[in-house]
Amino acid sequence: MPGMAAADIRVVPTGGALGADIVGIDLAQDIGDADFHRIEDAWHEHLVVRFRGQTLDDDALAAFSRRFGELDMAPTGRGGKPFNPDRPEIVVVSNIVVDGKPAGALGNSELVWHQDMTYNDIPPKASLLYGIEVPEAGGATQFYNLYKAYDALPDALRQRIEGLTCKHDATRSSDGRLRHGYEEEYSNEDRPGAVHPLVLVHPGTGRKALCVGRRPNAWIVGLPDDESDALLDEIWAHIERCGFVWTQDWQAGDLVIWDNRCTLHRRDTLPAGSRRHMHRTQVRDTARPAAA
Ligand code: OGA
Ligand code: MN
Repeated sequence: MPGMAAADIRVVPTGGALGADIVGIDLAQDIGDADFHRIEDAWHEHLVVRFRGQTLDDDALAAFSRRFGELDMAPTGRGGKPFNPDRPEIVVVSNIVVDGKPAGALGNSELVWHQDMTYNDIPPKASLLYGIEVPEAGGATQFYNLYKAYDALPDALRQRIEGLTCKHDATRSSDGRLRHGYEEEYSNEDRPGAVHPLVLVHPGTGRKALCVGRRPNAWIVGLPDDESDALLDEIWAHIERCGFVWTQDWQAGDLVIWDNRCTLHRRDTLPAGSRRHMHRTQVRDTARPAAA
């Protein structure tokens, strides 16, 4: 809002391969344009930003999320239904069970390295995950810098993937569960999903990033299955080997925002009997990022 006093914001990089804390701002208040631009700049520079000690109800979470753009609707939960029909933009990520029913998605499952919703033609540009209840131990989320993964590609591999596209599977979520309405098995040609270039140019920074979605059921369009699998294994081995990772150890009240166009994230299986409850929004991108 013009004329609003600027907050005393500080950006504190994690010192790792990506990520920064932004301190000195209460996100439940209206944020002035100047402050928002500082947040957006820090997010572009550090890919993942974390705000600790926040108190956000769903209205406040949605209102702050909308500063980044229109919100995408949440992917549907079990049985193809929204988590909460009154708040179709909010994903509940939870391992809590109430009266035998899961309070949210993903349970205690391990999540493989992934980008969110890249099975859509225009995946979200940002996801915002707000930790409401978190376990004392376990339940960290790891993030990965896909700019650095691109920059570190061996020349031969970079040349080989130039101009190639990859199909991102729509049929399973990041915990491997079959989504409502899909078959167990598909051929690579027939599998529902979206096709994206393997290398994208980020519209906000102009930097090139690998765009790999997730490994299971990925296909390099046009290649025979075995050649596609071999090339994808090589790309993922490069990613794993480079280790451009930062780990978010959750505290209740953390809001973490990741740039979905240039990061991956994952988590380990959650400890049995632990309680972890989070709300997520996802921000629609205005266009497909350009191919490199
Ligand atoms: C997500 C996600 C990771 C976690 O919400 O998109 O992948 O640690 N969550 O729960
Ligand atoms: Mn995710």
